Amino acid sequence: MGPCTSPSLLLLLCLSVILISATHATDCSSLKLAGGKKQYSNCTELPTLNSTLHFTYNATNSSLSIAFSAPPSKPNGWIAWAVNPTGTGMAGAQTLLAFKANGSMVVKTYNISSYSSIVEGKLSFDVWDLEAESDKDGKMVIYGSVKVAASTEKLNQVWQVGPGMADGGPMKHDFGKANLAAVGELQLVEKLSPAAPSPSPSTQASEKGPNSGYWVSGINAGFWISGLISLLILM
Ligand SMILES: *[C@@H]1O[C@H](CO)[C@@H](O)[C@H](O)[C@H]1NC(C)=O
Ligand SMILES: *[C@@H]1O[C@H](CO)[C@@H](O)[C@H](O)[C@H]1NC(C)=O
Ligand SMILES: *[C@@H]1O[C@H](CO)[C@@H](O)[C@H](O)[C@H]1NC(C)=O
Ligand SMILES: *[C@@H]1O[C@H](CO)[C@@H](O)[C@H](O)[C@H]1NC(C)=O
Ligand SMILES: *[C@@H]1O[C@H](CO)[C@@H](O)[C@H](O)[C@H]1NC(C)=O
Ligand SMILES: *[C@@H]1O[C@H](CO)[C@@H](O)[C@H](O)[C@H]1NC(C)=O
Repeated sequence: MGPCTSPSLLLLLCLSVILISATHATDCSSLKLAGGKKQYSNCTELPTLNSTLHFTYNATNSSLSIAFSAPPSKPNGWIAWAVNPTGTGMAGAQTLLAFKANGSMVVKTYNISSYSSIVEGKLSFDVWDLEAESDKDGKMVIYGSVKVAASTEKLNQVWQVGPGMADGGPMKHDFGKANLAAVGELQLVEKLSPAAPSPSPSTQASEKGPNSGYWVSGINAGFWISGLISLLILM
């Protein structure tokens, strides 16, 4: 009798599949993109303005592909995501900004060299594949790719939302706490754990901390065991 002809084994197999996919789900599942037409290897919930960033960084050709999602502050407002190669705030931000014009979403690039100089035009690095969309809940998404300097491990990013466009340019955003806090680092390459000589294999297991892979596989084992117990109860 093969494993798949035995009902209890089949149930066990199904249960294992469910358990495995559950434990492998990443944070990204709750950060579903509005359109969801592109796949990214990483995602992060930005700390303010209800925004998220999905991204894929290819270190080989130093290209960063992103999807920035946020609700604009007013239904016909704008959303923006920027890399600041020279500072940490808005001054210097090389910005991708999306808004709805005549019913369709457009993305424009702005060189924001200072608070009083927001100039539509080329950025200080290459950008391509710019696109934007909005969903029925009013969330907007900016898609795009940017070239970063070789060997970049992290970037200063800035994001923002605003109420609308006027005279072809973005209207001022609010200066609330959440708006002013919309800056941060984007880690492109996972940080190595604090510099320390790598432990020898014999001591490795005991030195593994709570964030180690061992602990994670411990959770997996826990799920497996509790799954087996509930299965036994069911039978
Ligand atoms: C973020 O979302 C929450 C709940 O959906 C809402 O109450 C809040 O006003 C939103 N904040 C912004 C800045 O849109
Ligand atoms: C990264 O870019 C290089 C050069 O274009 C390409 O060969 C490689 O397949 C890319 N890696 C991924 C994961 O897409
Ligand atoms: C780098 O590689 C990725 C994946 O292969 C590709 O999408 C991207 O266009 C490449 N970037 C450049 C600057 O060629
Ligand atoms: C919207 O359409 C009007 C009329 O066709 C045109 O004058 C205007 O430039 C368009 N706006 C944008 C941002 O494309
Ligand atoms: C952005 O604006 C600043 C100030 O006007 C200028 O020095 C810089 O060259 C501009 N960057 C690009 C890519 O045009
Ligand atoms: C991005 O995701 C990949 C694959 O899941 C992972 O190896 C990498 O460490 C992540 N990068 C960051 C910066 O978290």
